[in-house]
This record gives sequence, C-alpha cells and structure tokens, in this order.
Amino acid sequence: MVEETSLLYEGKAKKMYNTDDPDLLIEYFKDDATAFNGKKHAVIDEKGALNKAITVKVFQWLEECGVPTHFVEEYSGREIVVKRLKMIPVEVVVRNVVAGSLAKRLGLKKGEKLPRPIIEFYYKSDELDDPMINEDHIEVFGWADRETINKIKEMALKVNECLREKFDKAGILLVDFKLEFGFDKDGNLVLGDEFTPDGSRLWDKETGEVLDKDRFRHDLGDLIEGYEKILMKISRV
Ligand code: ADP
Ligand code: TMP
Ligand code: ASP
Repeated sequence: MVEETSLLYEGKAKKMYNTDDPDLLIEYFKDDATAFNGKKHAVIDEKGALNKAITVKVFQWLEECGVPTHFVEEYSGREIVVKRLKMIPVEVVVRNVVAGSLAKRLGLKKGEKLPRPIIEFYYKSDELDDPMINEDHIEVFGWADRETINKIKEMALKVNECLREKFDKAGILLVDFKLEFGFDKDGNLVLGDEFTPDGSRLWDKETGEVLDKDRFRHDLGDLIEGYEKILMKISRV
C-alpha cells in the first residue's frame, strides 16, 4: 500500500496528495460543495464519502467497457489511489438531454432528448469562469494536438455509450456530464479526475426527480438524499 506524503493541490472539491510512489497520487474527496465557480459554497457532511463511492463504481464500469481511467485502488472512506497524469486543461461535456447552460444559452426546453450526443469543450480557468471553446482554440493554443482531440472525442462518446446503458439499468437517466483527460507516464491518454453527481446530471428514470448537484445549485432539495439514492441504485448494477 502506498503512503501519502505531501499535499500536491487543493481544489474546490478535492485534494490531491503525492505518495511515496512518484507515479501514484491519492485523490481525497472533500465535503465542500460549490456552484457557479465557487460563488455559492457549503460544507455538506458525507458528500465526500458518497462522491468517492460513486466514482469508484463508475470507474469500475468504465474499465469493464474498455475505457482507460486513472483509478488504481480504494485507499480510505474518502480517498482513492490514482495514476499521476499530466492533465489537459479542458473540460469535456457530453449531453444527451437538454438542461443547464444549453437550455439557457439557446432558449431550449429542459428535458428534450437530443437526436445524438453533443460534445462541448470548456477551458479550465476559474478566473475566466471556464469559457466555452472549440477544437481550433484547443489546437491553436497548444492545450492538445489534433490527434489527441480526436481521441478525446472518441473516448468521450465511448464513456457516454457505456454509462448511458449502465445508468439506465440502475433506473437513472444520464442527462449530461463533464470529463477531464490527461496523459500517463507512458504517454497514453487516460480519463482522470472523477465521475460524480457534482459534475453530471442524473435524473430518476421513472419520476424525473433530480438526484445530482442541481439540488444544491438551485435549492431543489437535500443533496445527500439525492446522492444516497444514486449510490443505492448503481450498487445493484
Ligand atoms: P478544481 O481544480 O476544479 O477546483 P478539484 O477540487 O476537483 O478541482 O481538484 C482536483 C484537481 O486535480 C483538478 O484540477 C484536476 O484536473 C486534477 N486531477 C484530477 N485527476 C488527476 C490526476 N490523475 N493527476 C493529476 N491531476 C489530476
Ligand atoms: P452546464 O449545463 O452548466 O454547462 O453543465 C454541463 C455538465 O457539466 C453538468 O453535468 C455539470 C458539469 N459541470 C461541471 O462539472 N463543472 C462546471 O464547472 C460546470 C459549469 C458544469
Ligand atoms: N464546478 C463549478 C463550481 O464548483 C460550477 C458548477 O458545478 O456549477 O463552482
């Protein structure tokens, strides 16, 4: 088992620790909830533990589907061991159903199913409020080359295919989600960061109940109750 050494980075929802193995990090899931790039903030007991458990389950599903992820093993109730990646500073959003900023920006009705998935890119920058960018921005400003962008799109769609089916079996509609990718020490493109209801929209398939962080963003109900329902449902698949 690896040993946690020093803090590498503290973000809004997680901490990353160095370990005694230079190729491995420990990812710690905090209880902090933020929205609108940190403008709204709360500390919610048990959120970190639930996010850790949900991420582990989803990354295990993804490995089954042949998507390489940074997940190595569980470490504690709110920590996992991951491969150290050189992160690409781009948030990759995949959408199956109209919601959130897509509904707002284009004046579309929330809940409408899209005829095919939409991929969007955002530049990861808190100061700039994560502005939307396109493939040319990514290439021209050197965040990733053309071949990598194509691989990211291919992997994002594979993640979507895999998770749509798994969540459907769990009785959950996968509305949209955000991914982050990076390169491992051998130069392989790998899915990093997390898959949690902080960075995805998950609705109960039967009732339409919102189970994700929109409960916190828009005061729709108790966050923990939603996250517990997600964990209970996905644990059965
Ligand atoms: P933020 O920086 O958006 O506030 P978090 O609180 O989620 O985000 O912090 C986690 C940070 O760790 C993010 O910046 C993310 O890009 C980075 N990260 C995720 N997985 C890895 C990894 N395997 N190796 C290195 N960095 C990672
Ligand atoms: P959006 O509709 O607000 O653009 O969000 C799309 C998806 O991306 C949603 O599942 C939430 C997730 N997301 C993040 O993970 N981080 C962010 O900073 C934003 C804005 C969205
Ligand atoms: N992830 C961003 C934040 O933590 C925005 C959001 O999720 O709404 O503020």
